[in-house]
Amino acid sequence: MNAREVRKTFLSFFEEHGHTRVPSSSVLPHGDKTLLFTNAGMNQFKDYFTGREKPRFPRATTAQKCIRAGGKHNDLDNVGYTTRHLTFFEMLGNFSFGDYFKEDAIAFAWELVTKRFGISPSRLWITVFRDDGEAREIWRKVAGVGAERIVGLGEKDNFWSMGDTGPCGPCSEILVDRGDAYGPADMDNGERFFEIWNLVFMQFDQKADGSRSPLPRPSIDTGMGLERMAMVLQGVDSVFETDLFRKLIHRVEQITGTRYDSGAAGVPHRVISDHIRSLTFAFADGAEPSNEGRGYVLRRILRRA
Ligand code: GLY
Repeated sequence: MNAREVRKTFLSFFEEHGHTRVPSSSVLPHGDKTLLFTNAGMNQFKDYFTGREKPRFPRATTAQKCIRAGGKHNDLDNVGYTTRHLTFFEMLGNFSFGDYFKEDAIAFAWELVTKRFGISPSRLWITVFRDDGEAREIWRKVAGVGAERIVGLGEKDNFWSMGDTGPCGPCSEILVDRGDAYGPADMDNGERFFEIWNLVFMQFDQKADGSRSPLPRPSIDTGMGLERMAMVLQGVDSVFETDLFRKLIHRVEQITGTRYDSGAAGVPHRVISDHIRSLTFAFADGAEPSNEGRGYVLRRILRRA
């Protein structure tokens, strides 16, 4: 399935289930000084979650342009060295603003992944926040996932927040086991247990003083990496081998006269093709390289490329 079909399948599925399709917002967050770049699909809906603004619809779905190269979510130094990290990527998401909660979010995710995308449950693992017995139970009851495939982890892995402040909550991830070729069966091995989707059960607003207050209504925020899902569905080893990157990598080969290598020698091809996407989307949305803040991050990306 090509990436365009992955995006379409995701958005159409949630439209069929009553979600309003909303365009991606800019990669430069407007009116939010807590972020350098848009780092998740939920950013544009932050005030809906906190109750500062009345939601225009109870459910939404988006394909959001994201840049993770600064702040709390920063993947810059990993890019090129793993098969899965990108500074620019598209996050497919479904959102409930005080409408449905854990049970429906899990049921939707399981149906989409196993039925529409056709990934065999035998390849899938689930993580939940270790104190979230409710989520564990729903995965067993609603999705029929065996208890041995549901792993409880701590805050570092299974509690999501957009930044130092803002909406946050326990989360549950869907992982694809890529098998022994990708190293030991250890949950910390992200190359083997490959995260495709994160379901966040939004419940709190993180304050600058470290305290958390409950959100007006429990809500749902999810994020699936388009490039990662395309990789799994295209049966290739790396996001850089998907149809989203093939032309860019080929162009880097042409300009440098150096063949792409999926191992260590291919790091430069991967770095250049990722960074040029970040820079292009950031410039298109109005950013410029400079000596500080967001502009400085862009300058670092440019220099690294
Ligand atoms: N907002 C969900 C995620 O970024 O994983």
